[in-house]
Amino acid sequence: MASEELYLFYHGLPVPKIAHTEESLKNLETFKVKDDDVFGVTYPKSGTTWMQEIIPLLLNGGDLTPVEGIPNWDRVPWLEETRISLVVDKLKSPRAMVTHMPYHLMPASFYSSKAKVIYIARNPKDIVVSSFFFHQMASFLDDPGTFEEFLDKFLAGQVLFGKWTDHVKSWRDTDLGDRVLYITYEELIQDLRGGLERMLRFLGRQMSDDALDRITEHCLFKNMKDNKMSNYSLVSQDLMDNNKSPFLRKGIAGDWKNHFSPELEAKFNAVIREEMEGSGIMFPWDEE
Ligand code: A3P
Repeated sequence: MASEELYLFYHGLPVPKIAHTEESLKNLETFKVKDDDVFGVTYPKSGTTWMQEIIPLLLNGGDLTPVEGIPNWDRVPWLEETRISLVVDKLKSPRAMVTHMPYHLMPASFYSSKAKVIYIARNPKDIVVSSFFFHQMASFLDDPGTFEEFLDKFLAGQVLFGKWTDHVKSWRDTDLGDRVLYITYEELIQDLRGGLERMLRFLGRQMSDDALDRITEHCLFKNMKDNKMSNYSLVSQDLMDNNKSPFLRKGIAGDWKNHFSPELEAKFNAVIREEMEGSGIMFPWDEE
């Protein structure tokens, strides 16, 4: 099990104490969602930081000022974390926020609002690899052990925010209708500009070709990696040691192939397939 020293358990889901308190989780429940709010929703390590870069740029017409001047955690705060209460009054409407919460644990006011959601899903094999390295560099997370040990914990849901399968299923089985856009990390890797255009249309916004080119360039991994407002280099080294593994680590699809043995792949596929069976959800990586 995840350690009680490092994690709080919110409805059974481990969340790191460094960023969550009983109070921040209570605030989440009573948070007043506005109709023009936009939420980037992710299971951890699926592209949250990317959404914290992308959404403000789509909403503000491509002005790079906030992404070059405000750290990602204050620019697009997490609904459930402690920082939000410090910055929420400074957020300009339409507000952009992120969350790792499953659908049923959103604030009560969310369901009756018109707020929009962009849900980014990522191949869970790449998530487990990304998370494994994240646990090695972040001192506020438990020691991942060997890759195989960590993979077992991931499959058992004994990791941040519980099981990946529960998260993706919760956000598909909703009454949100056209309030939600589903997009994958892999799609953005393949065609970032096309993905940004889809998001822009979904948000009912327009942008000149030049502005879209500029933000596409800005949001490429190689460029975002150098943005100190987004690469976590502002966090002290004893909390996040970028020398052990950079937070913006590889930024590719398919790194799992460098870490999974055929046996681990078979075990992983069997568990995920069984849990996704009957959900009707198909992802591009299911064909692999
Ligand atoms: P890797 O560890 O595979 O490199 P989150 O922000 O949800 O914690 O997810 C982190 C993952 O998203 C990391 O994956 C990180 O490198 C990747 N990521 C962040 N920004 C990205 C970008 N602009 N392009 C591609 N991947 C990005």
